[in-house]
Amino acid sequence: MSNNPASSSRRGATSGDVEVSKYLEIAEEKLGQATGPSEAHKGVDEAVVVLDFGSQFSRLIARRLRESHVYCEIFPPNVAEEQLSHLNVKGFILSGGPASVFDEDAPQLPAFVLSRGVPVLGICYGMQLLAHALGGVVAESAQREYGHAVIHQNTADHPLFSGLDASMPVWMSHADKVMEMPPGFQCLGYTENSPVAMMGNDSGIIGLQFHPEVVHTPSGKELIENFLYKICGCQGLWTPGNFIDESVDRIREQVGTGRVICALSGGVDSAITAALIHRAIGDQLTCIFVDNGLLRREEPERVVDTFQRGMKLNLIHVDAKDRFLDKLQGVIDPEEKRRSIGETFIRAFEDVAEEIEDVKFLAQGTLYPDVIESTSAETGSAAKIKTHHNVGGLPSVMKLSLVEPLRYLFKDEVRDVGLALGLPEEIVMRQPFPGPGLAIRIIGEVTPDKLEVLRSCDWIVMDEIKAANLYRQLWQSFAVLTDTRSVGVMGDHRTYGYLAAIRAVTSEDAMTADWARLPYEVLAKISSRIVNEVPEVNRVVYDITSKPPGTIEWE
Ligand code: XMP
Repeated sequence: MSNNPASSSRRGATSGDVEVSKYLEIAEEKLGQATGPSEAHKGVDEAVVVLDFGSQFSRLIARRLRESHVYCEIFPPNVAEEQLSHLNVKGFILSGGPASVFDEDAPQLPAFVLSRGVPVLGICYGMQLLAHALGGVVAESAQREYGHAVIHQNTADHPLFSGLDASMPVWMSHADKVMEMPPGFQCLGYTENSPVAMMGNDSGIIGLQFHPEVVHTPSGKELIENFLYKICGCQGLWTPGNFIDESVDRIREQVGTGRVICALSGGVDSAITAALIHRAIGDQLTCIFVDNGLLRREEPERVVDTFQRGMKLNLIHVDAKDRFLDKLQGVIDPEEKRRSIGETFIRAFEDVAEEIEDVKFLAQGTLYPDVIESTSAETGSAAKIKTHHNVGGLPSVMKLSLVEPLRYLFKDEVRDVGLALGLPEEIVMRQPFPGPGLAIRIIGEVTPDKLEVLRSCDWIVMDEIKAANLYRQLWQSFAVLTDTRSVGVMGDHRTYGYLAAIRAVTSEDAMTADWARLPYEVLAKISSRIVNEVPEVNRVVYDITSKPPGTIEWE
C-alpha cells in the first residue's frame, strides 16, 4: 500500500459502520496475522444457498431470505460442494447475472445443485441456466426487456402461488428467454413478451424470468416465502433469539477458558459484538475503550456508563486524548490525519493489551457485507475495504485468533440482535461514526478549541434532527467546521467567525449517498441555534452534494 496521500484510496465502508476497532483488523491483515478460521455461525439447522451469478441483486435476495427468517449464505458459482458442508441445505436460489448461456465463458451450474435433490429457484439468468442444462431451448436476444410487466398464472393450485392473485405486476430485466421448456416442466405463467415467464417441475425446480427480490415486484416477498416454506419446507428458524443462543454456544466452544479482548468504540458493531461475547463468557472478556479525544460530546461518558455501569462489562477506559492530540499537532493533510490516528490507536491499544495476561482471542465486529466483498468471485480480495486504510501493523507478539460472531449478519440483523440482547436503542440505532472521528470534520489543524466548537455545533445538529424525528431516516447527519472565516454582524458589532457546514445524507450502504432534503424549518432552527449558541461560528451552510462525486465526510 502506498503512503502517498495522492495515490491511496482512503476509505469506504461496506457495512457503513467502520469503527476505530477496525484498525486492528487492518493491522492484522498487514502482518498476515489473523490466525485460524474465524468461527462464526456454522451448522445452522436450515439454510438456503444463494449462488451469485453476478447480479446486482444477489445481496438483496439474501436479505429477503433472512427477513423471512431463513438463514442463507451467498457463494460464487464455482464453489466446491464441501464448502457447504456446515449447512443443512434445504434449497438453492440461482441469481440473475449479466451473462448469456451462449457466452463461451458463461458461469455454469454446479452439478451438485441438481444432484442433491432439493428444490431450486432460478431467477432470470438462473432460470435460463436451468432450462439450458436440463434440455430446454433458450433464445438468444440482443434486446433487453426492462421494467414493469404483468404476469398471468397458468395454474392456480401450484404452492408457489398460495395467497397470490392470478395476475400480478413484476419487474423484468433480461435479454435471453426460455422458448422451450425442458422435459417434465410445466409453464406456470406468461407475460406479453415471455411465453414462458415461470416454469416448474414436480421436483421443486422452478424458474422465474422476473425478479421477485426487488420492491418493484410487489408480491415478490410472498412468492419467495412460498418457495421457502411450501416448497423447500423451511420452518423459519432464523430469529435473533435463535442466533443469540447458537452464538453463545459457539463462542464458548471456540474460546474455552481463554481470554478475549475487544476494542470498544461505542459504535454499533463493536458494541453488539462485545455484548454477545459477554453473554457467552462473562468476565473472560475484557473490552478496551481508547478515548482518542475526537469523540462527540458526552460520548466517552456514555460508553463507560452503558458498558461498565450498565452491563457490568470488564472495561478498561484508556484516556489517550493528549497522545492523539499531540500527534495531530500541525497536521493538515486529511490522509496524514487518518494515518496518525490509526497508528496512535494501535499503539495505545497494544500498550494496554500487553498488560492483560493470557489473551488468546481478539473480538471483531466484522459483518457479512465485508465477508461477501472479500470472497465474491468478481471482486476478489483486491476489493477488501480495510486495505483502504493507512494503518501500521500489530506487534508480532500479539498472535491472536479472531472471534467474529457477527460475521454472517447484515447490518439490520445486527441491530435486531442488539435489541434482543437488551442494549439501549440509543446505541443500537446509532448512525455510523468514522474511526478518525471529529478530526476529519475539522478542516485544517485539529486543536482542542476547534474540537470544542465542533462538538457544540454537532450537539445542536443532533438535537434538532432528533427533535424533528429524522435521526433514523438519515444515514448520517453532522456538522463540519471549515477553516473559512467570514464577516458578519451581531447586534452592533462586526464579527469575523468560522463557517460551519451541515451535512445530512440518505444512503443504503455508504457507497453512494444523496443529500437529504431536510425541511427548511429544521435547517433554519439549526442555523439560528448555532450562530446564537456557538460564539466562534457566525455563518452556516448546507452541503447539497451527493456521493459521488462528493464523499460523505469532508476529509
Ligand atoms: P465517505 O466519506 O468515504 O464515507 O463517503 C463513507 C462512510 O465511511 C465513514 N468513513 C470512515 N470510517 N475511517 C472510518 O472508520 C475513515 O477514515 C472513514 N472515512 C469515512 C463515513 O462516516 C461514512 O459512513
